[in-house]
Amino acid sequence: MLPTSVLKAFTALCLLAPTVTALPNGHPNHSQKPYFYAGHDLSSLKIEEDGGFIYKDTARGNATRPVEDILGDGGMNTVRLRLWVNPVVPFDDGYYETYNLDYVTTVAQRFSKKGYKIYLDYHFSDYWADPNKQARPVAWPTTVPALAATLRQYVSSTLLHLHANGVDPALVSLGNEIRHGLLWPQGYVDVDTQPRAALNKNFTDLATLWAASRQGVRDAVKQGAKKPTIMIHIDDGYNVTLQQRWFSALTSSGQVKTSDWDVFGFSFYPFYGTAATFANLKTTLNTISKQYGKPVHVAETDWPAMCTNETGTAPELSEPSVPASVPGQLEWVHTIIDIVKAVPHGLGQGVHYWEPAWLNNTGLGSACQDAILFRPDFSQWPKVTGYSRESVNIFKNI
Ligand SMILES: *[C@@H]1O[C@H](CO)[C@@H](O)[C@H](O)[C@H]1NC(C)=O
Ligand SMILES: *[C@@H]1O[C@H](CO)[C@@H](O)[C@H](O)[C@H]1NC(C)=O
Ligand SMILES: *[C@@H]1O[C@H](CO)[C@@H](O)[C@H](O)[C@H]1NC(C)=O
Ligand SMILES: *[C@@H]1O[C@H](CO)[C@@H](O)[C@H](O)[C@H]1NC(C)=O
Ligand SMILES: *[C@@H]1O[C@H](CO)[C@@H](O)[C@H](O)[C@H]1NC(C)=O
Ligand SMILES: *[C@@H]1O[C@H](CO)[C@@H](O)[C@H](O)[C@H]1NC(C)=O
Repeated sequence: MLPTSVLKAFTALCLLAPTVTALPNGHPNHSQKPYFYAGHDLSSLKIEEDGGFIYKDTARGNATRPVEDILGDGGMNTVRLRLWVNPVVPFDDGYYETYNLDYVTTVAQRFSKKGYKIYLDYHFSDYWADPNKQARPVAWPTTVPALAATLRQYVSSTLLHLHANGVDPALVSLGNEIRHGLLWPQGYVDVDTQPRAALNKNFTDLATLWAASRQGVRDAVKQGAKKPTIMIHIDDGYNVTLQQRWFSALTSSGQVKTSDWDVFGFSFYPFYGTAATFANLKTTLNTISKQYGKPVHVAETDWPAMCTNETGTAPELSEPSVPASVPGQLEWVHTIIDIVKAVPHGLGQGVHYWEPAWLNNTGLGSACQDAILFRPDFSQWPKVTGYSRESVNIFKNI
């Protein structure tokens, strides 16, 4: 039997040791390494499932399994979800999908219960928000002060709704790809506006609106929601000039302070310009993280499993040495992960793949026909089956 003093010392030591938390797979977390977000955007998944689509795990003899279990085995620890304000208006000749608060709450609960971190991606629109469109929600006011008040209230009430339903997002992006601002036309910006004084003035209304959304997070936290990590998300992650001008203009009026956001998120796609090289991504991530002393994420990326268009010619990809194939998907993402992890001072914090399971939208907005991580079988249309590709393991052992 041990003397009491030894036992006491031992107990004290145990209490001093870092808390061992559970990982999404239920195993204890003995890692001393900083947390690395390995995310998949699964926004469309429930719509697919509700339409009767199913997913097979080819590593388990084609067993039908939930997508998050297949991708979780492949190293995913975070699920990204887009939220639209009030998607009741049919855009683009009737195109309509409902990434509304009820939908997002349902899926966020499901993934959260399985131990995945939730990365909430606010679009601040009734529809897609990206650099080419940021339509103000139809029901929202049209003057900047009224719009700011509505936005603040919207952010706070949506976070509190999620909190009341057991979901506290780990990461929150206030706006999606806001290079040209948000809530158009009031919040429109253009980083190429010259001279500089005009550029900074141009950002004033956006700064007012963004600051209001940030205030909405503070309101929700005061009322009990857990403080999420705040991200600002811009596209063209390869263009350091764009990023430097944009963030300098955002903070120029003083309404948004550098301390108001925690991490940078950049989209990085190979389809929209040959400048999207690994070398340019590295320059952006290293330059911006050093300048601001904040972590960086690649918030969206993907790579084609195949890319020949109807004429048989392959659209140009920004890293031509990487093949348009399943091994190419692994190579692209692994190279990005290496670049992010090599950002000095541990400031490379995450990589997120965009919509890997969207079986009836396999091109994911590119000119390539298929950039997802499941091979779709349309032979039983309208029922579609997705067979996991080797690339579902994209985050395994990273
Ligand atoms: C595991 O522990 C490390 C070191 O304490 C921590 O940085 C990381 O966030 C933890 N991972 C999870 C999933 O909690
Ligand atoms: C994909 O299929 C689902 C389920 O049938 C349907 O609800 C959705 O609108 C389709 N999406 C696209 C982009 O075709
Ligand atoms: C899984 O399904 C695919 C497509 O139908 C088939 O080619 C393959 O042989 C199946 N594998 C097993 C182990 O049944
Ligand atoms: C910002 O500049 C762009 C391009 O010059 C212009 O179209 C837009 O109206 C300006 N926005 C504001 C809020 O002044
Ligand atoms: C990078 O961004 C700047 C600022 O918007 C723009 O003028 C320039 O054309 C961009 N370069 C590329 C290669 O996209
Ligand atoms: C097919 O590829 C060619 C060559 O890159 C390109 O010019 C054309 O726009 C592509 N077509 C479609 C429908 O994407």
